This record gives sequence, C-alpha cells and structure tokens, in this order.
Amino acid sequence: AEELQHWRERIKQLLVEQNAVLVAHYYTDPLIQALAEETGGCVSDSLEMARFGAEHQADTLIVAGVKFMGETAKILTPHKRVLMPTLEATCSLDLGCPPEEFSAFCDAHPDRTVVVYANTSAAVKARADWVVTSSIALDVVDHLDAQGEKILWAPDKHLGSYVQRETGADVLLWNGSCIVHEEFKAKGVAELKALYLDAVVLVHPESPAAVVELADVVGSTSQIINAAKTRPEKRFIVATDQGIFYKMQQQCPDKELIVAPTAGAGATCRSCANCPWMAMNSLENLCGVLERGDNEILVDPELGKRAMKPLQRMLDFRK
Ligand code: 13P
Ligand code: SF4
Repeated sequence: AEELQHWRERIKQLLVEQNAVLVAHYYTDPLIQALAEETGGCVSDSLEMARFGAEHQADTLIVAGVKFMGETAKILTPHKRVLMPTLEATCSLDLGCPPEEFSAFCDAHPDRTVVVYANTSAAVKARADWVVTSSIALDVVDHLDAQGEKILWAPDKHLGSYVQRETGADVLLWNGSCIVHEEFKAKGVAELKALYLDAVVLVHPESPAAVVELADVVGSTSQIINAAKTRPEKRFIVATDQGIFYKMQQQCPDKELIVAPTAGAGATCRSCANCPWMAMNSLENLCGVLERGDNEILVDPELGKRAMKPLQRMLDFRK
C-alpha cells in the first residue's frame, strides 16, 4: 500500500512537471482509472480517448490501454509526445489483421468501401476509407449503406456481422476476433437470465452472435455504462471485460453487476473477461515511463498522414 501511494504521488508530480495528461481505457487497472480522474485526464471508451487526446492542450499524452490506442493518439496529433506504460500491450484483433494480407484483400475487392475497426495498426488504418469504434460503427455503416456503398469490414467478424444484421448493408467480413469477448457463452448467459428474471443483459458487440442475441442493450464500453446508469432495473449481466465494473459501480452504487459466464453458468476462469494486454498496465510501469520518457509511440509520418484521414472522418462524423 505504501508503494502504491508512492507511485500515485510521483505520477501526479511528473504529470504536472511534464505538462502530461493521462488517457485511460475502462479496462485498465482501477488504480489507473482513479488517477486519471483525479488528475484531470480521461477514462473512457476508445472513441472518446481519441477525441480527448486530440483536443487536450497537453504536450504529452500518456495512453493507458493497448497499442492501437497509443497509435491513434499519435496519428491524430503527430506533434505531441505519446507514451505508453508498456509497449507489449497489443490486441488480438490488431494481431489478426497483418497489413500486407489486409491490403491484398482490399485489392481483391476494389468496389468496396473499406471500414476498419479502431483496433488495428496504423498501416491497416492507412489502407481504410473509414475508421470506426464500436460506439459509432452502426451509424457510419448505416450512412454508407444509404449511399448505396458496399462495405469491406475488418477485422472483428462478430462486430462486423452484428453491424451487417442491424443495418442490412452488404458487408464482406475479415475473419478476426477478440479473444476476451469470444469466450462469453450464450448458454451461460441464458441460464443466468433464467435465474434472475429481472436482470438486464448488456453486451459488447465483439461477443458472438448467440450472446448478442440475448442482449437487452448492445454497445461500446461507454454505452454499456450509460445503460446501467439510466435503466431503472437494479441488476445487470455484463458481457465485457471486468475492468468496466470500476466505473459502472461508481456510476451506479446501488445496482448489482454480474459478469457474464464464459464457460457455462457458475464456472469461473481467471483470465476470462479480463484482457491480458490491458492488464499489463500498472501504476508501476506508468510511473516508470514518466520517469524515463521511454516507450514512446512513433508512427511513420507518411503512414500517419494517410491513417489520419479515415480517423478524422470518424471524429467529424459525430462531433
Ligand atoms: P470500446 O470502444 O467499446 O471501448 O472497445 C474497445 C475494446 O478494445 C473493446 O474490447
Ligand atoms: Fe483487443 Fe479484446 Fe483486449 Fe479489447 S478486450 S483490447 S478487443 S483483445
């Protein structure tokens, strides 16, 4: 506890000294989220992290999350210094979409508008017409569909097929998935739902279709938190990373939040509903990166320029 207090104080001091701000995702350690809140940083979903970093006046952004979030910040504000507590924190969606293969896939379907999820590398974004996050994907694809455009979607097949079902658009899917959300089981969620008849089921759209089908609300992390806050019901079954419970419980202290089962009702598993890459962020490595100024995120300027266009399009789409 003494050590934690030391890091907290030291981080606060270094953030001020370096005119740096902390931008954290809801899946990171609650200690990091609390510190971001306390120091005027942001804790949010990936869309708002991008927007906050781009609009904030700080010279240095400390991005606590996974690599694509740091890269997005750097692409949007190339003149800022972007540091991350660890450079090892990646994402199975990013890993599952190598730029060369993806580029060849796009080349094979030149008639399609390329829409990529934010959970991708700078090189994949540079090949896209649009970047979207889960909170804005439906609206963007709806808009493109209304213009008669056919979509090439990458990398998350579950989010992509959800978007396809909801919008009715012509969507060609890349075969990627999130190792965390893919583990949620419809059978377990249905059993829990039968047990708690009053419970509202909140699902992140990276989950399999059978789980999404059982949802009362499907949405990004911030949309899930908002649903828990605004719905009158008292009990929620939540299919997303457990890191989200920190903010959810803070926003709705009188509600009961239950993590959706990953392998049948009642079964537990340590790394389930727990992104291993998000978990690599700690107060210790956050403090270390501020001390040393290493772990800087760099994006090739030419590549960054190309990736900025579809990213900026996303930010401009919903101001
Ligand atoms: P959100 O945009 O909903 O925060 O999702 C990011 C993510 O990585 C979910 O697994
Ligand atoms: Fe990627 Fe899934 Fe982790 Fe989100 S939870 S960062 S999509 S691996």
